[in-house]
Amino acid sequence: EQMPLEMHKVKIVQKLNLLPVEERLKAIQEAGSNTFLLQNRDVFMDMLTDSGVNAMSDRQQAAMMVADDSYAGSETFTRLSKVLKDIFGMDMFLPAHQGRACENIISQAMVKKGTFVPMNYHFTTTRAHINLNGGTVLELIADKGLETTSEEPFKGNMDLDRLKKSIQKVGKGNVAFVRMEAGTNLIGGQPFSLENLEGVSSICKENGISLVLDASLLADNLYFIKKREEAYKDSSIREITAKMASLCDIIYFSARKLGCARGGAILTRDKELFNRMKGLVTLYEGFLTYGGMSVREMEALTVGLEETMDEDMICQGPDFIQFMVNELKKRGVPVITPGGGLGCHINAMEFVNHIPQSEYPAGALASALFIAGGIRGMERGTVSEDRDADGNEKHADMELVRLALPRRVFTLSQVMYAVDRITWLYENREMIGGLEFTEEPAILRFFFGRLQEK
Ligand code: F0G
Repeated sequence: EQMPLEMHKVKIVQKLNLLPVEERLKAIQEAGSNTFLLQNRDVFMDMLTDSGVNAMSDRQQAAMMVADDSYAGSETFTRLSKVLKDIFGMDMFLPAHQGRACENIISQAMVKKGTFVPMNYHFTTTRAHINLNGGTVLELIADKGLETTSEEPFKGNMDLDRLKKSIQKVGKGNVAFVRMEAGTNLIGGQPFSLENLEGVSSICKENGISLVLDASLLADNLYFIKKREEAYKDSSIREITAKMASLCDIIYFSARKLGCARGGAILTRDKELFNRMKGLVTLYEGFLTYGGMSVREMEALTVGLEETMDEDMICQGPDFIQFMVNELKKRGVPVITPGGGLGCHINAMEFVNHIPQSEYPAGALASALFIAGGIRGMERGTVSEDRDADGNEKHADMELVRLALPRRVFTLSQVMYAVDRITWLYENREMIGGLEFTEEPAILRFFFGRLQEK
């Protein structure tokens, strides 16, 4: 078994605090047992997300100094457009301030009331925007994707039979678009294969339906294709990306995860669609040459996208995650396997199997892990679902605590510290009790909801 190796060195650091356990307990109580409500000064390892917190390279920082700040016609826009075209082969680009802003624009332009959007799996903000425009999400992940422990290399694959049947059932005219999410977030950062994407693409073409790729977690998915898909083991990352892009009609991404620390982009080759979305960008985001991003971020993104084509860069996330997964597995801790992108996912349903789903096992475990180690993870289970129209609780398919490994941020010894604290908590898991809401917002309740021990 290989140890992951940092293919970079540290140049700028941020001091961390490790509070005594009594203070950690107080902090999480004040945060309503919700890790989103913790103050970062109280956190030792911030494993909440990989969004906006990946490390930047020296070249990205340098590029930020040469940004061309003009409202219209900026050189920065031209540079970013050129790199996007080189990498993805799509010549039309709309900038936006982050991923969900792209989702707003795509949904407003393409989703009509009563239409359907088949996808491998939903993401929270994606589904919310589709629903807001009167559309319904159809989740068509292959059954293997929902098995918590497995050897399946591509758990993000769509079930192609179910896609064909769904299109027949609702009628192709009622399908707004088909969406594939790279590095499928909510099932553990799991990739799809290029073979699967080809299948999806040809079904879309047969039916005249647009294929939209959410490329926010593209970097991890690219690396997994290179490492796990036999047919592409000798292809370069750039070739794999070009092939992937050639199968899609629209690509959008959150640049908070891909390439930079802020921003978003929508790419297409379809002039008519581009024109429909253009007006919405001007209305919601900003002029077409910045779309809510600062030119500095756009320059960093330009360099970051180029760096994403470097295997030494994109291996960092997946290799460190796989290492953490292996170490936890060796110690008997229930984790999602195989390791995906984004982070290491702990299976709370098993870790705290004495807590029923009605008492939010993943929320309880995320809270306990902060007390045990000053580690901030994210609940990805029933708290992250909202109630249905009748106010009934919707139990999530999986109860996960996501421990993100922002790219190139943590060292191996910090990862080992996390492994040690999680193992200790597992050995003392009976101490963890279930939770109940004391304040429960109606929309995206996981962000600001407050809970207490039941
Ligand atoms: N799509 C995917 C797959 C994402 O993971 C995210 C964000 C978005 C869209 C929305 O992008 O945050 O820039 O508006 N995921 C973050 C996370 C929030 O922590 O998983 P955004």
